Amino acid sequence: MMKVAPSILAADFANLEAELRKIEDFADLVHVDVMDGSFVPNITIGAPVVQSIKRNTNLPLDVHLMIENPHKHIEDFAKAGAYLITFHLESYAFDELKIKETIALIKSLNCKVGLSLNPATDIALIEPYLKDIDLVLIMSVNPGFGGQKFIESSYEKINQLLILLEKQNLKAGNKFISGEVAIEVDGGIYPGEISKKLNQLGANILVAGSAIYRAENIQEAISSLRNG
Ligand code: DX5
Ligand code: ZN
Repeated sequence: MMKVAPSILAADFANLEAELRKIEDFADLVHVDVMDGSFVPNITIGAPVVQSIKRNTNLPLDVHLMIENPHKHIEDFAKAGAYLITFHLESYAFDELKIKETIALIKSLNCKVGLSLNPATDIALIEPYLKDIDLVLIMSVNPGFGGQKFIESSYEKINQLLILLEKQNLKAGNKFISGEVAIEVDGGIYPGEISKKLNQLGANILVAGSAIYRAENIQEAISSLRNG
């Protein structure tokens, strides 16, 4: 079944404890957007806040690093309690060696590892890493801000990724077990047409900030994202 990861970026940062409680019984993961003001224009939060989030939820933390030189900061986020750490191919300008080193570091710290790519990046560039990662995060907006519009070309990336996975005898799935890679989509996702299509295409985890935290009924928003 589809998993849902509410993005804490759309929550009230002054009331994180209460904001986490709102999703605790309904969500599958908490998506934490880390931005450094350099890789993306905006600055959000760092490892100390991730540690506080960890203390206030039992949900696994899905940490999305939108930062330069992620390698330098991985250990801090692992220690802060990340379950999954995702970084961008673009953070290393597609340098295969650096990307592989960073994947290995995340694994050595016993975290699940995800790789993300921006809307303009060709999904084929993910191919050399598929065997070594637990998740691919397809960005369906340009990273940097919540509340943007879903980019339609993201749908096609799911189809292409499924083909790449099959070629390597891997399956798409969200159980974080060996032989499986989760397809996560992030940005501009709302219940209705978009979530329905993402469900049908075979995405495994949907990230949503505005659609969940601006909803009148959070439980209902999460369950409609989950069920398409
Ligand atoms: C964008 C972030 C997303 C974003 C999602 O840079 O990675 O996780 O917060 O927020 P919405 O659902 O509002 O687009
Ligand atoms: Zn994100």
